[in-house]
Amino acid sequence: MTQELIVQGGIPLHGSVRIKGSKNAGLPIIAAALLIDEPVVIEEVPDLLDVRTMLSVIESLGAVVDYDSNEERITINPKNLQSAEPPVDHMQKMRASFLVLGPLLARYGYARLSLPGGCAIGTRPVDLHLKGFEAMGVEFSYTSGLVEGKTGFLKGADVYLDYPSVGATENLIMAAVLAKGSTTIENAASEPEIVDLAGFLNSAGAKISGAGTKTIRINGVKQLGGTKYAVIPDRIEAGTFLLSAAVTGGEIIVNNVLAAHLKPLLAKMRETGVEIEETDLSAIRVRGSLDKKCVDLKTQPYPGFPTDLQPQFMSLLAASRGTGLVTETVFENRFRHIGGLLRMGADIQVEGSRAVVQGVKKLSGAPVEASDLRGAAALVLAALSAGGTSRITGLEHLWRGYSGFEDRLRSLGANLKVETNINLTWERAAGE
Ligand code: UD1
Repeated sequence: MTQELIVQGGIPLHGSVRIKGSKNAGLPIIAAALLIDEPVVIEEVPDLLDVRTMLSVIESLGAVVDYDSNEERITINPKNLQSAEPPVDHMQKMRASFLVLGPLLARYGYARLSLPGGCAIGTRPVDLHLKGFEAMGVEFSYTSGLVEGKTGFLKGADVYLDYPSVGATENLIMAAVLAKGSTTIENAASEPEIVDLAGFLNSAGAKISGAGTKTIRINGVKQLGGTKYAVIPDRIEAGTFLLSAAVTGGEIIVNNVLAAHLKPLLAKMRETGVEIEETDLSAIRVRGSLDKKCVDLKTQPYPGFPTDLQPQFMSLLAASRGTGLVTETVFENRFRHIGGLLRMGADIQVEGSRAVVQGVKKLSGAPVEASDLRGAAALVLAALSAGGTSRITGLEHLWRGYSGFEDRLRSLGANLKVETNINLTWERAAGE
């Protein structure tokens, strides 16, 4: 059984859309609930495949989870954890599952879990996580794809990250909150999702300062207590919707958004000729133009341009005037959406981590297959702007990070629907 998203493109989007809570803030916060001795309530957590995966990981460890997906509210009771060994199949589904390592080491001084494999957008090692834990007194051993960490107790340490890894910063913060003494993380990631994790943990009694800067200090405490916390709006989802109006030459208002988190995207969109207006503290109006010009773009850790919006932005460039150079510095293999864009008539040349986009007048609909989450979103945006019909497969990638995406695009006037096709593989094979 295969699902296809069928998009009739070329319709300018109009209307307004409310942005959901951040996936990348919600996932570490769910993992961090393992550090707490009392029930916690987490609000604004959208119903996404990745959220479901993280919930099944913590359930496998003994946490009791009640997820009201309509209200987007999760109650977690981590009191009776029974295991520090999450099952391999849960871990393999999503790299962010590795974020339970810090909490497990903090609670048990022990954890055994699968190392995340490579994935579609790059090899993504976890050496920085492990080096940081070692500085805190953890010893690791490795057997057949599993890593086992042991420590008498976690001790605070001064950790310098060779690269401001988001996941390593989060994992180390979580371990440090219950460690003995104080920890300093230098060259820490400063993404808004890090600030949100620190906000959640501080609301439960942790002592974290400096989150959002390059230096984070954590004074270990003995215990954390129950809390209720709402996750920040998803800046990547917001960016995707803003770009959906821009690529179609439409005009929409995006609500429940923090413009401060989107500065590089807004600046780059303005540079292409798209009109952006911050109508109040939590809303942005975007008006696309049919005469956009290509710009250069380089992804970087926050506050640089987010790698998670590079593919969607490339869809905007693909049908703009002139030439733009896109440089991807965060992941080594984040151009897998380009194959689909080429099928839609884009003119893009790739050389290593750089892609030269020569804008074309208009893309044309085509059958394409998504191979990663943000690449899938990029193909949807390209299909919305293209003339004719596109059929997009690989939708499981899209559902990892976008909740109710097709309904919400439809409410903005897009013509698209998901079709479930039982015989798709057979029909394709027969047609060849
Ligand atoms: C998080 C986000 C992801 C986003 C990325 C960068 C979540 C769940 N995911 O991923 O959507 O694209 O930040 O903004 O929040 N690296 C190492 N060694 C390490 C750790 C990372 O070499 O120990 C490398 C990675 O291979 C990658 C780069 O550092 O090339 C960035 O990775 P990192 O910041 O850790 O991203 P994630 O936390 O995996």
